[in-house]
Amino acid sequence: MSLVRLCHVGDIPEHSGVAALVAGRQLALFNLPGLGFFALDNWDPIGRAQVLARGIVGDLKGEPCVASPLYKHHYSLKDGRCLEQEGVRVRVWPLITQQDQLWLEAASLKE
Ligand code: FES
Repeated sequence: MSLVRLCHVGDIPEHSGVAALVAGRQLALFNLPGLGFFALDNWDPIGRAQVLARGIVGDLKGEPCVASPLYKHHYSLKDGRCLEQEGVRVRVWPLITQQDQLWLEAASLKE
């Protein structure tokens, strides 16, 4: 399995997100202490902009999520679905944590 290194776990401040450009695609990486690291597409399909990494993270009824800075829609960090608008979702990227680094499976970038 070939892996693509994203960053050191310490590069993502707790309770917030950073954007990463991976193989030409913008991802939003989040660090929620106690829950772990999450990766979504940075693209907000409702606001139509690459902004999710700048959103506020928290939870809604126990679901860890990010609120888009544009229209404040919430996207689940677990499965990417929009919690206000049925049928809207963003892609979730499974992360691998190894040696304090975050990685993605290279094959997933080709899908
Ligand atoms: S994310 Fe662009 S102004 Fe906030």
